[in-house]
Amino acid sequence: MASSTHNCLPLLFLLILLLLLLHPSLQQQEQPPSPKLSTTDLNTLLTIKTSLIDLPSSTFFSSWNFSSPDPCTTFAGLTCTLSPPSTLRVATLELGHGLFGSLGLSGSLPDSITQLTELTQLILNPGLITGPIPAQLGPLSKLRVLSLSHNRLTGPIPPSLALLTELHTLDLGFNRLTGQIPPTLLTNLTQLRVLILANNRLTGGLPGSTREAQLLHLDLKSNHLVGPIPPTLPLSIRYVSLSQNNLWGPITNGPLDSLPQLEYLDLSQNQFSGSLPTSLLRPSLSTLLLNHNNFSGELPEGLAGATTIFLNNNRFSGPVPEVYMNGLEDGTIKTLYLQHNFLDKFPTKNKHLGKGVSLPQEVEVCLSYNCMVPPSGLSTCPTSASSQVSRPADQCPVFHNN
Ligand SMILES: *[C@@H]1O[C@H](CO)[C@@H](O)[C@H](O)[C@H]1NC(C)=O
Ligand SMILES: *[C@@H]1O[C@H](CO)[C@@H](O)[C@H](O)[C@H]1NC(C)=O
Ligand SMILES: *[C@@H]1O[C@H](CO)[C@@H](O)[C@H](O)[C@H]1NC(C)=O
Repeated sequence: MASSTHNCLPLLFLLILLLLLLHPSLQQQEQPPSPKLSTTDLNTLLTIKTSLIDLPSSTFFSSWNFSSPDPCTTFAGLTCTLSPPSTLRVATLELGHGLFGSLGLSGSLPDSITQLTELTQLILNPGLITGPIPAQLGPLSKLRVLSLSHNRLTGPIPPSLALLTELHTLDLGFNRLTGQIPPTLLTNLTQLRVLILANNRLTGGLPGSTREAQLLHLDLKSNHLVGPIPPTLPLSIRYVSLSQNNLWGPITNGPLDSLPQLEYLDLSQNQFSGSLPTSLLRPSLSTLLLNHNNFSGELPEGLAGATTIFLNNNRFSGPVPEVYMNGLEDGTIKTLYLQHNFLDKFPTKNKHLGKGVSLPQEVEVCLSYNCMVPPSGLSTCPTSASSQVSRPADQCPVFHNN
């Protein structure tokens, strides 16, 4: 008798469970409706998928199955945020896998992408995406990161970018963008930390800024920018590259004085002229690339912490200050390129060594094609340097035989 009751118990449980599961009102109490992706965002994703194409070997869109009940968890490259009470909105979007060896995506960006108004981050991984950046970016007012680098985008940088006041990082580098940098970009985007517009076809002058801006990293390398450095750069700045443009003008008494955090300054391959301000070489500065310009005058004395110094291919004259030699000897300066100037004397401080100088193994120094014969065994030049040890004496007001 007792044993038969025992046998019935599991069956009874099963029956109750079945009733519970089948009862509609009970079911709703157990499982509240799961939040759904907003229809606008879903339609926008659909236009994105039809505007962009996986290149051969890329499989980015294979997970974008629009019959899927939950795009937020099944689609590659996106995350969602809950917009109360029960709608999901796309919060971050990273298009393309960005895998090494994958060609990425082609096609172009649909204007409708600006309907994803909760986006805080929009990233295009390297690919072959062509066409312009959508002109009216204003609706993406929550955007903090916009990175569209290493594609083939054309057309201008939309001035509407200056409306995205939450922007922290803007990277449009390595595209084919033309036109000017919107002049209000840096003055209006007060939160901007990183601005990369390198390797495009931008023309016009550099954008103005304010001392109070938060910018840390400014890379405008390899464009067709003209004119002088604007009178103010943000005090916060650490990295500046304006290399490979058509910029000109002196840099004395300008914005580069008194930037207390500046670590990396690359003005190479422009037409800057005049002498170097002594204040340029401040303790924070570790890399100074001023090669291939039209700078003149004597080399400044102060060197502080600089470890990489390219001053080659300019019109510098006079002696190389003794502090440079000290820096090389104690290994604080790792690379000193002075070739192709009009320098006429190199300090050979260590008198016991006579005219021979010995430097730490890893130090690179190049002195060729100046108005002197460099000390023996000292010059270790890059292959790009002239093979001529000295400049013809008739080009030199003074010529020293060290
Ligand atoms: C898309 O999802 C639906 C429903 O989940 C499924 O039936 C279908 O096979 C999927 N299609 C592809 C191409 O994976
Ligand atoms: C600068 O930002 C403000 C909002 O802070 C906006 O009203 C103004 O139109 C912006 N200026 C430009 C040129 O975009
Ligand atoms: C370089 O500067 C010198 C004066 O130091 C000037 O005569 C010359 O025209 C300048 N060259 C270029 C290409 O700007």
